[in-house]
Amino acid sequence: MSQVSFDDPSRTFLLTTPASSYALRVGADDSPRHVHWGAPLALGQAAALPTHDGVTSSFASTGGEELAVEGGARFGVPSLLVRYADGTRGVEWAYEGHAINGGRLDVKLRDRHYPLGCTLHYAVHEDSDVIERSLTLRHLGTTEEGDAPIGILRCDAAGWSVPAASGIRLSHTVGEWSGETQLRRIEAPYAETVFTSRRGVSGHHANPWLMVDAGDADEDHGEVWSMALAWSGSWRITAQRDHAGGPFTVTGGAGHDGLTWRLQPGESHETPVFAGQFSRGGFGATSRGWHRYVAAHVLPLPDEVRPVIYNSWEATGWDVTLEGQSALAARAADLGVELFVVDDGWFGRRVSDRAGLGDWQPNPERFPCGLGPLADEVRRHGMRFGLWVEPEMTNPDSDLYREHPDWVLHMPHRRRTELRHQLVLNFARTDVTEWAFTWLDRLVATYDIDYLKWDMNRALTEAGWPGHPDAERLWTDHTRGVYAVIDRLRRTHPGLRIEGCAGGGGRADLGMLARTDQIWISDNTDANDRIAIQYGYSQIYPARTMSAWITDSPNPHTRRRTPLRYRFHVAMAGALGIGGDLSRWTEPELAQARELVSLYKEIRPVVQFGEQFRLKDAVQYRTGDRVVVIAWGQDRALCLAGLSPTEVYVDDDTGAEHHAATLLAHGLPLRLPAQEPTSTVVRLTRR
Ligand code: GLA
Repeated sequence: MSQVSFDDPSRTFLLTTPASSYALRVGADDSPRHVHWGAPLALGQAAALPTHDGVTSSFASTGGEELAVEGGARFGVPSLLVRYADGTRGVEWAYEGHAINGGRLDVKLRDRHYPLGCTLHYAVHEDSDVIERSLTLRHLGTTEEGDAPIGILRCDAAGWSVPAASGIRLSHTVGEWSGETQLRRIEAPYAETVFTSRRGVSGHHANPWLMVDAGDADEDHGEVWSMALAWSGSWRITAQRDHAGGPFTVTGGAGHDGLTWRLQPGESHETPVFAGQFSRGGFGATSRGWHRYVAAHVLPLPDEVRPVIYNSWEATGWDVTLEGQSALAARAADLGVELFVVDDGWFGRRVSDRAGLGDWQPNPERFPCGLGPLADEVRRHGMRFGLWVEPEMTNPDSDLYREHPDWVLHMPHRRRTELRHQLVLNFARTDVTEWAFTWLDRLVATYDIDYLKWDMNRALTEAGWPGHPDAERLWTDHTRGVYAVIDRLRRTHPGLRIEGCAGGGGRADLGMLARTDQIWISDNTDANDRIAIQYGYSQIYPARTMSAWITDSPNPHTRRRTPLRYRFHVAMAGALGIGGDLSRWTEPELAQARELVSLYKEIRPVVQFGEQFRLKDAVQYRTGDRVVVIAWGQDRALCLAGLSPTEVYVDDDTGAEHHAATLLAHGLPLRLPAQEPTSTVVRLTRR
């Protein structure tokens, strides 16, 4: 079946995914109208559907457009807001044709009068129900002909419409530093509800995705419409519920409200992708659909096993020395760690957070012979070598800042607000990104670095660019600059792997995942707190991308005491790392850790590459013949998911046989050790 088809008489396009259909139409006034998003339909059926034409009276409902604009009797949330040099605002579309190429559809529009072109992009894949949407704006004029720039007040990537009767409930995450991705489900207000980050990163406080349902979906059942934005800077997603029966709409894109910039004659602007997925299998199937999509179409190296990492941050803080790191490396290797990452504190005069960011040479007192001896030591133990960097930042107390005070974001007559004693380098400037690429390239080449943890520890403030005629572009161009440096670095060093981080999970999004291998999702390593953070993260992002360390007890952040085994089990739900101070672990603890690392390596293919099912106080993973269950809480019978009733499973540890029909209906009997909080890992293999 073709993935994109077109009915000429009605000017209806149909996008077909394995289990859903999406239809749009070029309306009588040439504006693109929404027709259908949901259960599979044939082209003829979609062509016969009515469109919602609610723009005929000043009292009509809003909604129903593929990309809501300003102009005419439209009163909803505009996805595109433009202003021409003569003061005219808004758009009147003329349809200019379309192009279909495999799973891709481009619908070409232009303004009836002004030199503004807009192509709506749609892409579907044979293996996914996720539909990718974005747009390209074009200034069709030229400076020679005297055309003026066009003011862009808002340019979202896409507007999605959900049937009114289903737009009842919203799922999203809230959070904070050390408490990211807390899932919330709320009744959708009859109003405009804005989810946003004004920080220049996707942020700890909200993550750029949304799920919409009729209030009747659960993990296993129900229709769910979900959308996720592939962007790592400021963003805004606005949901609108109309009480008079208009469609429930969700428009989203890069940038927060109030930012404006000018599209120059001849210039094109591409938005990031705002992807959407319809699922009939509840929140669980929705998440698995996103996980599959991220693996198949977002991650650079989805099939590569994520190594067991050691990271020194919680153990040593800024107290990084050759001796200390070497001692940790020896202990880490002995536990089975595969990649040793030296965190903050190895460079410049970085002995606290007050100095050194920007001076990316090894600290001469701590590493008089450079990092070579440490890298050699790590490799001698059979581990790969990684380093923490924070390229977008500088401390005022740094040689870099003393030399280039103009490289940071700043505004005339305004204070330069320091957060964590640091300022943000303007990555919209090509001289700054060139500098960043040059030192990163040299660093990676010099020490043959396998892994970088790319951090970003503060929001943008005083985001100005004195002397630049259109400074607010930097909100987009800073993020693009970061993308460009990472992409170039990866191209130049194909063996390099990158972990995304922003004060923990402040920049966890599909934009970062397109160029990183995993994400440090929170600075909070308390296993109890992690359960909720990981639950929220798993709504969209797959386990293989979720860095999770086990650290010390009591936990340095929360002071909570938990057993080593429990801390390990919770961290095994993602890409396992160790971040504790191994110099203080006792022999019995080290022995237990060795066993648990080896257990993780054994279950890792199932956890990292399997399908994930969120169960009550448990997570289940399944791939091929293997099932892994990580459970905590009480002794109980845990009903499993996603098995065929006729299968029979054998417990790898006890040899007990379980019929899948029984596991689904009556549950897997769990016997958890008495020590609180308690947990277990069960491995089953299909007979
Ligand atoms: C951020 C990161 C931490 C650590 C510190 C180092 O907070 O999230 O993991 O790397 O910076 O300063």
